[in-house]
Amino acid sequence: MRIYEVADYQEMSRCAANLISAQVLLNPRSVLGLATGSTPVGIYSQLIEWYRKGDLSFAEVQTVNLDEYHGLAPDHPQSYRNFMQQNLFDHIDILPQQTHVPNGLAKDAAKECARYEALIASLGGIDLQLLGLGHNGHIGFNEPAAAFAKETHLVELTESTIEANTRFFESRESMPRQAFTMGIKTILGAKKILLAVSGKEKAEAVYRSFAGPVEPGVPCSILQFHPDVTLVGDAPALSKLKAAGVRICRK
Ligand code: GLP
Repeated sequence: MRIYEVADYQEMSRCAANLISAQVLLNPRSVLGLATGSTPVGIYSQLIEWYRKGDLSFAEVQTVNLDEYHGLAPDHPQSYRNFMQQNLFDHIDILPQQTHVPNGLAKDAAKECARYEALIASLGGIDLQLLGLGHNGHIGFNEPAAAFAKETHLVELTESTIEANTRFFESRESMPRQAFTMGIKTILGAKKILLAVSGKEKAEAVYRSFAGPVEPGVPCSILQFHPDVTLVGDAPALSKLKAAGVRICRK
């Protein structure tokens, strides 16, 4: 595992965008696993800037997103499909058919989950998966649980996630209670993982994920078993992990 420590959110965004850019430059036909939330917004802005400068093209890239709220239409302002359109896809040279997000309106949840897994397999798997980290250690929407969930599934969101994400909705009641998410096995299947974290409110989750035992109560801790993980974090987010003596890379 490589850990890059940077000063703040802006540097974290630039560093993570550099790693994604390197992936796309080395393999223009990369399959990128993408994430939502406030963490990747700056990363996507940086990628858009490099695309506009002519330094980067997504023309041959395929993308698969981690998750989607159950019950939200693609054009709902808070759907993750809409988030991706607004924050990345509408601003780069990727064709709509090359971007994939679970269908929040799917009637048959089991069928949708199977479809999404088959889609990822048909693309040849994920080359680089970008992840953010929930305050409770969740990745995608894999919530703390008694066991690690394997493949794409429909999940009941925990109170702490509803608490954290209600800020994006008009009211707590209007926030969906369920979501489709890639499972832990799906995420671990990615050839490379890039985890981006920022802010001291993530310090505890980062610490528990990488300095503690691997356990389903801290879903992100499973990344300790992945052979190619890069963690990019700002100093506040890495503070507790550093204090535990974990080695940080020089850039
Ligand atoms: C949501 C998403 C996750 C994301 C997490 C952290 O719950 N499903 O993929 O990593 O939020 O969000 P933020 O980056 O806003 O802290």
